Amino acid sequence: MKQSKPILRALSGEILSTPPIWMMRQAGRYLPEYRATRAEAGDFLSLCYNSDLATEVTLQPIRRYGFDASILFADILLLPQALGADLWFVTGEGPRLSTVTNAADFAKLKGKDDIHEHLAPIYQTVRNLVQSLPEQTTLIGFAGAPWTVATYMIAGKGTPDQAPAHLLKSTGLPVFDALIDLITEATIEYLSQQILAGAEVVKLFDSWAGSLHNEDFKKYALAPTKRIITALKKRHPHTPIIAFPREAGDNYIGFAKATGADCVAVDNSVSANWIAQHMQVDGCVQGNLASRHMVTGGQNLIDDTTAIVKALGKGPHIFNLGHGITPDADPENVQLMIDTVRSIA
Ligand code: CP3
Repeated sequence: MKQSKPILRALSGEILSTPPIWMMRQAGRYLPEYRATRAEAGDFLSLCYNSDLATEVTLQPIRRYGFDASILFADILLLPQALGADLWFVTGEGPRLSTVTNAADFAKLKGKDDIHEHLAPIYQTVRNLVQSLPEQTTLIGFAGAPWTVATYMIAGKGTPDQAPAHLLKSTGLPVFDALIDLITEATIEYLSQQILAGAEVVKLFDSWAGSLHNEDFKKYALAPTKRIITALKKRHPHTPIIAFPREAGDNYIGFAKATGADCVAVDNSVSANWIAQHMQVDGCVQGNLASRHMVTGGQNLIDDTTAIVKALGKGPHIFNLGHGITPDADPENVQLMIDTVRSIA
């Protein structure tokens, strides 16, 4: 199938003279219009579950910057909530969840097919976006990868070293494995519904993959990603999938081939030249400008942006940040990044 949207062309392996661009967390607190809509919704979760307002914030960065992709406005922690976990956000601190640390906690969770009523507003947001996005803009759906989602479900919050999840893995392996299994199966169903609703690409966020090493990386980052991709490809063979095993280091090498991902997103702890040499040989890559440039701007932003576009210009590449844009970013720096990328061609 010949694609015309730039993101889909890059994902199919085409080398474009100017890489398509989008940004992780592109709808977010650095934008005044996002803050206004979030205030209208009341709080972050109400915004996620209000399809009209979630559609509006998804479109805001597209209107302002004309990114090549929009990403569904939602959160990776909505799936645990659909599975029965309590979820709330503490302002200035982040997410809080009821914890899963033993067989009794696990037994209270719902099954993989019981999530859709809770997630119906998310599918509605996807359908709204299909109607309202510009013709050339690709719609990306997403979910958290099982390990990353499990770290939040086990600890009940974000943790710098994911210690509670590592502890359960070593002292309560049957519960840990059952949880990874349930999240894996539920994620297949969740992403499948996003695709049926109109998501053209899906992305798996494994934000904490970097804390898994050796066999653990294979078992809990690589294998669940492969299982999700294999199942989705069976049902939706034409939907490209982006994997993001953040801070995987050397484990990035061969990840696309081993999992079947069409593209691997890369953080900024590795250089663009390293990515070109070790990863792009296998296909499309996405990344990897440090998000701090969106705060600091100036000539450093221009230089690093230029270096990335040049280093990755000989293969299929989607320009993005190495991680999400932060709330203290200056919206004008985002424009400077885009202008720089588009001036290089
Ligand atoms: O990228 C996008 O614009 C799409 C929407 C999106 C959000 N979260 C919105 C959001 C996506 C793809 C995510 C992914 C996500 N959520 C991840 C994986 C990617 C990553 O950043 O590592 C993780 C770990 C989460 C869990 C989560 N959600 C945390 C830890 C927090 C609090 C930290 C923070 O930045 O405040 C959130 C909140 C969240 N998710 C916000 C947004 C726009 C900020 C909420 C607000 O408006 O207050």
